[in-house]
Amino acid sequence: MLSLPQHMKLVPTADKSPSLEITYSGEVSELMHHSHGAFPESVYIYGETLALAIQHNIQPHILSIGLGLAYNEILSFCISEKMNIDISMTTFESEPFLRDSFFQWTQGHSENSPLYSSYDTILKMATDYYQVSISSVREQLKSAFGSKQLVMKNEFQFEAIKNEKFSVIFYDPFSNKASPDFWTESFLSSFLSHHADLSCIFSTYAATGILKRTLKANKFEVELRNGFGGKRHSTRAIRSSIS
Ligand SMILES: C[S@@+](CC[C@H](N)C(=O)[O-])C[C@H]1O[C@@H](n2cnc3c(N)ncnc32)[C@H](O)[C@@H]1O
Repeated sequence: MLSLPQHMKLVPTADKSPSLEITYSGEVSELMHHSHGAFPESVYIYGETLALAIQHNIQPHILSIGLGLAYNEILSFCISEKMNIDISMTTFESEPFLRDSFFQWTQGHSENSPLYSSYDTILKMATDYYQVSISSVREQLKSAFGSKQLVMKNEFQFEAIKNEKFSVIFYDPFSNKASPDFWTESFLSSFLSHHADLSCIFSTYAATGILKRTLKANKFEVELRNGFGGKRHSTRAIRSSIS
């Protein structure tokens, strides 16, 4: 059994769905999800956004920033199964351990990672929630890497996806405290102009003035949703023909 890297700690959230805490340079540490429930938070912020895109006839070409425990990837394949629509997804993750563990788990490899039981829990919760077959979603996830329906990349870099445009963006990096680069106006502006398709839906747990301004400057209609678990706001934004 592999062990978790020292800077990572598994933390159960209120509904027993797992989250992961990462500590950078022994100082800044951040939990990946809201302590009130990693699963319902992921459904609310990201799952509902993908379902909305599909309802608006958007072909989901998804960009996911931050694989983490892969909630958004697992939910997306459940929604694809439920709504009977093909998806394609590119996911960035800077931690090699998280990329490797998730890939090995999807392939059913026997070398045990301490994260396998977390993925199993998330898959069970997600297939129960969307009422889809656990074995079908597992099969989809297993073949998704080979068919390039799911592409996993390292640390986010513009060059890694050239000028590829995405119709659904799950913007889930750490907060400004741990990952400040993702939240500056210049980064967000380049990100949206290079990677947001004309018809695009963008969702994140965060709600900052800079984010809202930059989305508006890029012709998105911004919806300030309630935040999850008592947070004041989260942000969803829609551009073009699906608004
Ligand atoms: C809030 S967590 C994502 C949670 C995840 N979406 C889930 O479903 O569990 C943020 C993730 O971004 C990753 N990350 C941090 N810096 C990054 C970077 N520069 N490029 C890509 N991923 C990064 C972290 O390792 C962490 O896994």
